[in-house]
Amino acid sequence: MMNIRYALLTALVWIPFSVSAQRSQITMEKDWRFSLGENGNAHMVDYDDSGWETVTVPHDWAIYGPFDVNNDLQNVAVTQNFEKKASLKTGRTGGLPYVGAGWYRRHFDAPSGKKVELLFEGAMSEARVYVNGKQVCFRPYGYSSFHCDITSFLNADGKDNVLAVSLVNRPQSSRWYPGAGLYRNVHLICTEPVHVPVWGTHLTTPHVGTDYASVRLETMVSGGEGKALRIKTVIYSPDGVPVSEKTFAGKTGEGQPLVQNFVVENPELWSPESPSLYRAVSEIYAENELADTYETRFGIRSIEYVPEKGFFLNGVRRKFQGVCNHHDLGPLGTAVNVSALKHQLLMLKDMGCDAIRTSHNMPAPDLVRLCDELGLMMMIEPFDEWDIAKCRNGYHRFFNEPSDVPGMKWAERDMVDMLHQWRNNPCVVMWSIGNEVPTQCSADGYKVARYLQDICHREDPTRPCTCGMDQVSCVLDNGFAALIDIPGLNYRTFRYHEAYENLPHGFVLGSETASTVSSRGVYKFPVEKRFGAVDPDHQCSAYDMDACSWSNVPDIDFALADDYEWTMGQFVWTGFDYLGEPSPYDKNSWPNHSSMFGIIDLASIPKDRFYLYRSIWNKKEPTLHVLPHWNWQGMEQTEIPVFVYTSYDEAELFVNGVSQGRRRKAPTPKAKGLQTESHEQRYRLMWNDVVYEPGELKVVAYDESGAPVAEKVVRTAGRPHHLEIVNGRAFIGETELPVLKADGKDLAYLTVRVVDADGNLCPDYAGLLEFRTSGAASYRASANGDPTCLDIFHEPNMHAFGGMLTLIVQAGETPGKASVTVRGKGIRPVTVTLDVTK
Ligand code: GAL
Repeated sequence: MMNIRYALLTALVWIPFSVSAQRSQITMEKDWRFSLGENGNAHMVDYDDSGWETVTVPHDWAIYGPFDVNNDLQNVAVTQNFEKKASLKTGRTGGLPYVGAGWYRRHFDAPSGKKVELLFEGAMSEARVYVNGKQVCFRPYGYSSFHCDITSFLNADGKDNVLAVSLVNRPQSSRWYPGAGLYRNVHLICTEPVHVPVWGTHLTTPHVGTDYASVRLETMVSGGEGKALRIKTVIYSPDGVPVSEKTFAGKTGEGQPLVQNFVVENPELWSPESPSLYRAVSEIYAENELADTYETRFGIRSIEYVPEKGFFLNGVRRKFQGVCNHHDLGPLGTAVNVSALKHQLLMLKDMGCDAIRTSHNMPAPDLVRLCDELGLMMMIEPFDEWDIAKCRNGYHRFFNEPSDVPGMKWAERDMVDMLHQWRNNPCVVMWSIGNEVPTQCSADGYKVARYLQDICHREDPTRPCTCGMDQVSCVLDNGFAALIDIPGLNYRTFRYHEAYENLPHGFVLGSETASTVSSRGVYKFPVEKRFGAVDPDHQCSAYDMDACSWSNVPDIDFALADDYEWTMGQFVWTGFDYLGEPSPYDKNSWPNHSSMFGIIDLASIPKDRFYLYRSIWNKKEPTLHVLPHWNWQGMEQTEIPVFVYTSYDEAELFVNGVSQGRRRKAPTPKAKGLQTESHEQRYRLMWNDVVYEPGELKVVAYDESGAPVAEKVVRTAGRPHHLEIVNGRAFIGETELPVLKADGKDLAYLTVRVVDADGNLCPDYAGLLEFRTSGAASYRASANGDPTCLDIFHEPNMHAFGGMLTLIVQAGETPGKASVTVRGKGIRPVTVTLDVTK
């Protein structure tokens, strides 16, 4: 039996900009030139790029569309969904033009006499980087962060160097929208010849207690061989107070770190509820000269995975209330933006979510940083395939190929970079080595799993590994599941018990769960559980009873978590809708092109399901939500089921003041995990026989003593009358309009609502709305969450869906006021003013 105690404190290189005279880090955002196509010779210094587009990076060249069914049309059998015959998969990668070649070019200066590196946080994909006409590095995997030493390629005076990056995306290289281009940040890092290399520290906490923690910092120093080195490190508390300090002097052999141990008294422990972060600031002296200053940010916390009991953080048992997310940001595509990431995380936190799985690839560094700061645990996962293909042009092409490091395959190279980059981050509580890899079922598959897991253990002995497994028979039979530190099952809830009983671990993780499908505001009758159902409107029902043939509704996962100590909780597929994979409308179903799995839609508007998860997961604030909408003209006198998602145990429903009876959450038998089980009455209040009449639907919740404590009202809306603009996070309590920072990047998410004369949402409104912005911020993108809508995100107009859409406005670089106007035919327009401040 495994009984691992993982206790650690972790850290990360956190260097926003220039931090000292010895070290500078510049993010190369502006002044890039971009062109699609092969562009032979574009790596040459004197190549004429004057006709190219000027862009800022991060940049996703494909998000501007247009959508087209022929973009990466895939005629394939998706074997992991048990398909035996190939069929035409429409919209599988989002119907956007990501396939093809593209080039970026830029001039830059670098100080002479310094060590100079380029750090790419990710480049999609097959990146070849050239400096002054010569190739300096190649990185095939689009999700990996990588860096290259360009010192010897620079012009002698350091001035006017030419950087060129070529990227190629092949057809059928992904199962979802991967984005295209330099979609993550590019940094220029300049240091002294003696310096701490990129991701050059490793910080652990060998002991974590409430009275004290021990902190071990290993610092690599490059260029210091044979020199007298001295390192002085000060540890700062979350409040910025120095709490420990040490100096160590000595020489290091090549590849040997300088090691320092510290004690932090009465540490503030990191957790999702209290994400306290410390900093270790190190000065490195070579022959008594200050050579480098390096900061490692970390948190102090312990993690344990205990047989029969599951996961413990800081000694307290908890079940993962996690979600899986892909990396695209809906209408912004994959171009990473901090305020967009923050927007997503704040919504998830409000839902009670405490963990994210970066399915199925390395995340943007900003996401990991934000999870540290906001308090979300992470499972970081690198791969969707290993040596055996899921996609014709997927990562398997590189997995076993030699990398740029002699003796290392790309699989190891990519893993090592991922581990070095994030092994200091307290939010990361486990690694995943892969998702539903076909290698699960090959006779030697366990050897590949061991190879990858051993790399994790070698580079980070403090965290366990999981793997998202869906071929349960294979992995139980062939030893694959037995060797993974944490057995993660994707779906197959009906096999949890069998896995628990037949594996040596004493616990099972829901590494991927639910895949319930719904379209925001679209309700279908009769209300019944459906698996893989497809309808002529190409939408799924928002009653949260639709799933795919391999998946289930959320209630089973709640019951498994509640009923057994050995279940570790779950990572729901998915927190947000994403571009591509429009199951169950993935076969010949154009114009569908985005997922319906999200708890929150592609426009960042919550579906009803948000409140179902919130009612169970958010233990601090009450939830009371009623569905569906109450506009059923023509359906008078028919039964319209009403569901209430609430943290209260009991509620009463009224239609136009007439009670429809009280309902109380009722226990159900312990979960076996069968897809057909009905645990809904345990987690939802349901009135299945409400006869529709227009007017007012009201739910009143009662506390344990039977006293009314909260109510919610939905009214039948009249004719569309006017437009409203509210903060896109109003539903999580941010009711004031957002104030933007004049940094050229900050975003305001605004929800536009079409309402009747009394302010009731018109849930059927689907007309075209037009946007105009002026002043200190400008229009960036919009989305409506309709997976069948082909409106282009960056055009300043979009159809409403369910009476709503989201408008994203981006700050300029000058403080001031910004005006945002939305118009629609026959309805009163709306204008709001936003403040853009320094
Ligand atoms: C899983 C897979 C995910 C996604 C999901 C949809 O099997 O791991 O990437 O495809 O199914 O339900």
